[in-house]
Amino acid sequence: MSHLLEFLKHRSVGTVVPSSSFLGKKMYGNIDFSKAVLVVEFGPGCGAFTKNILAKINPNCTLILFETNTVFYNKLTTSIKDKRVIILNKNAEQIGDLLAVKNMGKADYIFSSIPLALIPKGVKRSILQNAVSNLKPNGKYIQFQYSLADYKLLKKHFNRVRLKFTMLNFPPAFVYSCSV
Ligand SMILES: C[S@@+](CC[C@H](N)C(=O)[O-])C[C@H]1O[C@@H](n2cnc3c(N)ncnc32)[C@H](O)[C@@H]1O
Repeated sequence: MSHLLEFLKHRSVGTVVPSSSFLGKKMYGNIDFSKAVLVVEFGPGCGAFTKNILAKINPNCTLILFETNTVFYNKLTTSIKDKRVIILNKNAEQIGDLLAVKNMGKADYIFSSIPLALIPKGVKRSILQNAVSNLKPNGKYIQFQYSLADYKLLKKHFNRVRLKFTMLNFPPAFVYSCSV
């Protein structure tokens, strides 16, 4: 219900219901997290993916969440009690500043649910630039979207973009797996 209410107030929420577990599996199902020390999630919302990612990462791995919506941010801080998680009420654009200030190095994986098609061009470019500069050389940026509208933009920022699709979500979704 909070997704629907927040969507009616803020376009940047992007959808009226949380993502399905099928879409979650397309995002992180095939990933080997055994060597990951830093994982980032952009736009966790109510945490549809977050608990599953937490179940997969190691005890010494840090998961940083960037969520701009204050209602979702407050829900996440109440529902997630895990010392590996840092929950921020900040824009994904700020990943570079945050990692530099905390001296945390670069990310192994960034999972993004941000609705690129609904946010201003300048902001999405800045998010993608910051993601590229804050990923390890073998890292991956994994983004889902409901359309192919930003496929070209992703290909401009990343060296390799692999595309997957699932009908088993509302709405059906594309998953872009991007390498630097
Ligand atoms: C489509 S919802 C996805 C929520 C959840 N990950 C899921 O899949 O069910 C997109 C989320 O991205 C957040 N968001 C949008 N723009 C953002 C930005 N620039 N930085 C961080 N979060 C953002 C929205 O507030 C919303 O919670």
